[in-house]
Amino acid sequence: MAVLGRSSCFVAALIALASVAAVAGEVFFQEKFDDGWEDRWIKSDWKKDDNTAGEWNHTSGKWNGDADDKGIQTSEDYRFYAISAQYPEFSNKDKTLVLQFSVKHEQKLDCGGGYVKLLGGDVDPRKFGGETPYSIMFGPDICGYTTKKVHAILTKNGKNHLIKKDVPCETDQLTHVYTMIIRPDATYSILIDNVEKQSGSIYDDWDILPAKKIKDPEAKKPEDWDDKEYIPDPEDKKPEGYDDIPKEIPDPDAKKPEDWDDEEDGEWTAPTIPNPEYKGPWKQKKMKNPDYKGKWKAPLIDNPEYKDDPFIYAFDSLKHIGIELWQVKSGTLFDNILITDDIEYAKKFAEETSGKNREAEKAAFDEAEKKRLEEESANTKDDDDDDDNDADEDEDGADDDIAEINAEDAKGYADVKTEDATDDKAEDSKEKASDEEKTHDEL
Ligand SMILES: *[C@@H]1O[C@H](CO)[C@@H](O)[C@H](O)[C@H]1NC(C)=O
Repeated sequence: MAVLGRSSCFVAALIALASVAAVAGEVFFQEKFDDGWEDRWIKSDWKKDDNTAGEWNHTSGKWNGDADDKGIQTSEDYRFYAISAQYPEFSNKDKTLVLQFSVKHEQKLDCGGGYVKLLGGDVDPRKFGGETPYSIMFGPDICGYTTKKVHAILTKNGKNHLIKKDVPCETDQLTHVYTMIIRPDATYSILIDNVEKQSGSIYDDWDILPAKKIKDPEAKKPEDWDDKEYIPDPEDKKPEGYDDIPKEIPDPDAKKPEDWDDEEDGEWTAPTIPNPEYKGPWKQKKMKNPDYKGKWKAPLIDNPEYKDDPFIYAFDSLKHIGIELWQVKSGTLFDNILITDDIEYAKKFAEETSGKNREAEKAAFDEAEKKRLEEESANTKDDDDDDDNDADEDEDGADDDIAEINAEDAKGYADVKTEDATDDKAEDSKEKASDEEKTHDEL
């Protein structure tokens, strides 16, 4: 526990955790957002100039399992949020790293992030924003019907790498605990509410290193390689006179009308009809090519650019935890942030904080929902009493407006995210698709 005493806020955090569970490992950072949290967290100046920086609300939210257990919640719509806290700088080299926090989307999040970032020592908290390089980004991200996932981005050599596996996130309006574990054997696990949702090797599930094997760029298809699976059947010959069969013939049933006057109407010719004998242009049958060797593939060779990185999982400098979000609808509440090397401690911490309040929170939410629905139906009844048609019109109009706003927001959000993860993903898959060709060209 060498870090003890390096910062007073850290001591406060340690005292707080002592009451939760015994720590076998090391806790690098822990935040329950008890009083005094504002001294530990620095709000960035990012987006302040154009008045789009959102305010945080220190609250337990509209429904909770313990009104005294507060976190920080985004409180303004259409705002950017950027806030961070420091801990004694460390590297997770040769260590297990556990990053954990709880998040609740009270607003029924339709488009927005709920993730946190770990940042290196060279970050200026006052300038922390969407462009600030980070080491790890982790947590849920929801936008429309298509994006409902847990982001797990690892940044290596200035490049963001998204996890290739799909990890669905929670989409309800209750508190959930997200945990990412990175082990020194380069394996990882992602947990939601202490249940493992994904795990594997960082080597396999992120494309951080170049491919181990590539197609031999020197290899050429042998001249005599027959890659035609089918060839024309030489046995199949065009029947004699086939091309002489006309496509159309004069209608044998047609008769020259009685009143046809050759002199005035010209010479009568029968109208034509499709010839039932006509079978279209002749096509020679195909047959399996007995010399077919299959599609030629260049043999794989070791990629000269591949170099193993035994510290693929490690980050030299971790010093800040930041929350950087764009929110269309506010109401996302973060709490119980933990960075430790102790998996067991993290598990207990989750149980004894958010886990302990889960049932009470669910009951409070159900109660709030019941109230909301009752009020809603009371309002509808009022409208009905006035005038049915009016009420319908108003409702429809409002719905349209909301739909329009949402569509625009989604677009705005996509633009914002372009700077960040989404773009990387598009790039990643594009890159992946042309990886082999690219390597080929480069060599
Ligand atoms: C903070 O959250 C509480 C609980 O949801 C709410 O009553 C209050 O209005 C919020 N304050 C601001 C400034 O948003």
